[in-house]
Amino acid sequence: MHRRIIAPGALAAASLLLAIPASAASYSPGAPGIGDPYYPYYGNGGYDVSHYDLRLRYQPRTDELQGTATILARTTQDLSRFDLDFLLNVSEVRVNGAKAGFTHSQQHELVVTPKTPLAKGTPITVVVRYSGVPSAKSAYGFTTWHRTPDGAVAADEPEAAWWWFPSNDHPSDKATYDVSVAVPDGTQALSNGTLQSTDSRLGWTRYSWRQTKPQATYLATLAVGRFDITTGTSEGGVPVVNAYSRDLGDNDGAARASVERTGEIVDWLSGYFGPYPFASAGGYVPNTTTGYALETQTRVYYSPKQFAKGANASVVVHELAHQWYGDDVSVKDWKDIWLNEGFATYAQWLWSEHEGEGTAQELADYVYASHPADDPFWKVKPGDPGADNQFDDAVYDRGAAALQALRNTVGDKAFFRILKGWPKAHAYGNASVADFERYAEHVSGKPLAGLFDTWLFQPSKPAASAARAASPARAGAAVARPRSWQKIEAAHGGHGH
Ligand code: ARG
Ligand code: ZN
Repeated sequence: MHRRIIAPGALAAASLLLAIPASAASYSPGAPGIGDPYYPYYGNGGYDVSHYDLRLRYQPRTDELQGTATILARTTQDLSRFDLDFLLNVSEVRVNGAKAGFTHSQQHELVVTPKTPLAKGTPITVVVRYSGVPSAKSAYGFTTWHRTPDGAVAADEPEAAWWWFPSNDHPSDKATYDVSVAVPDGTQALSNGTLQSTDSRLGWTRYSWRQTKPQATYLATLAVGRFDITTGTSEGGVPVVNAYSRDLGDNDGAARASVERTGEIVDWLSGYFGPYPFASAGGYVPNTTTGYALETQTRVYYSPKQFAKGANASVVVHELAHQWYGDDVSVKDWKDIWLNEGFATYAQWLWSEHEGEGTAQELADYVYASHPADDPFWKVKPGDPGADNQFDDAVYDRGAAALQALRNTVGDKAFFRILKGWPKAHAYGNASVADFERYAEHVSGKPLAGLFDTWLFQPSKPAASAARAASPARAGAAVARPRSWQKIEAAHGGHGH
């Protein structure tokens, strides 16, 4: 869902072009990637999706997923064929009602050839019928489909959709969603947004969820299992739906004591980031074993591992902060990941201060002092970490320290205006690190190129004088580890798949 402003002149030129039959030579295949420098085959060229309608059925016993995806899109070039990112077996593809040719190529590309070529700017409806056992599929040697004793979960980053629906899998093409999944009675199906209906017949119950705000593909989630679902409304009026696997065992209390604070934390974060951008909030804790949580839009995925040492509201703060920084405003390319992780970590620092477990400055001092200059930590550039280091500690911790340096440079007033103004400036859209730099300079009225270069783009430890980032460390004093540290770090939870 891209917003484009079309100049009147361009419109006139376009209608002129439409009047002349385009030569067949102008029709070309859509690119197999959308142009992300880190992941050349992620997303696709030639079209832009506005809506996904997924009507599915899942059998936990056999891990069989089947159904139909109806994709509404618009072509952005004269298209002879186009790709979708998808791994499961496809039995039929229709484009605008007519059967289309299709084949799997590369590692995760479904190549679709419509019966007749598609002119640029045409609305298209693509229907894909499919079935498969997602856990049996791998691409590049990994899977992100997590089976559990009672079901399965799709939640990963930077990719997860290939295992459960065909898509233009890149955050720069956001869309709205209707996800309707039938599961055996006694089992629940969770997804993003608001539960529209449940319908039981012949031993199956269908759960229909709706996401009415633009959502990146990696933020779409599906969870099937035996869940206890709780509902409520935050004091500020945000509806909350949480779910807990019935098999969390010893982690059950700690999981609930953390995730049940969702409403309180959403309201608290609104004070820093502005109004909550979506119609629903919440999280779910299935009985998976991943080390990470994920900011799946409106319905955060948590791993029980994060609550193995006790309640951790800090992880909830991290994932809910992403609802503004990551979900409402999404990266343009994956190299912009600092806009997600640096800010979600900084929200944890603010929470630590709120809880009296260490101030943001103390946390910045600790990050600075605990990594000596020769630590490889400083080699990672948070502003362009590389695909292999997308979720490195440096993106989170040095990334948050960069924000503390910004705060010290522009002062609290301008800093908190920037934090609150940014989600509004790019609501439901995409933005880059360079866009943020320009925005911070605009709001603060200060030149900040040197500061951002030092903290985000140099493969070395910033000098202690760099924006007063580390006061005690500068004096050579020992820096105590803030009490919140372990809980904050639990949000990173493993960097690989
Ligand atoms: N965005 C997630 C978080 O910070 C991290 C996901 C890491 N992904 C992974 N496959 N390890 O909460
Ligand atoms: Zn994060």
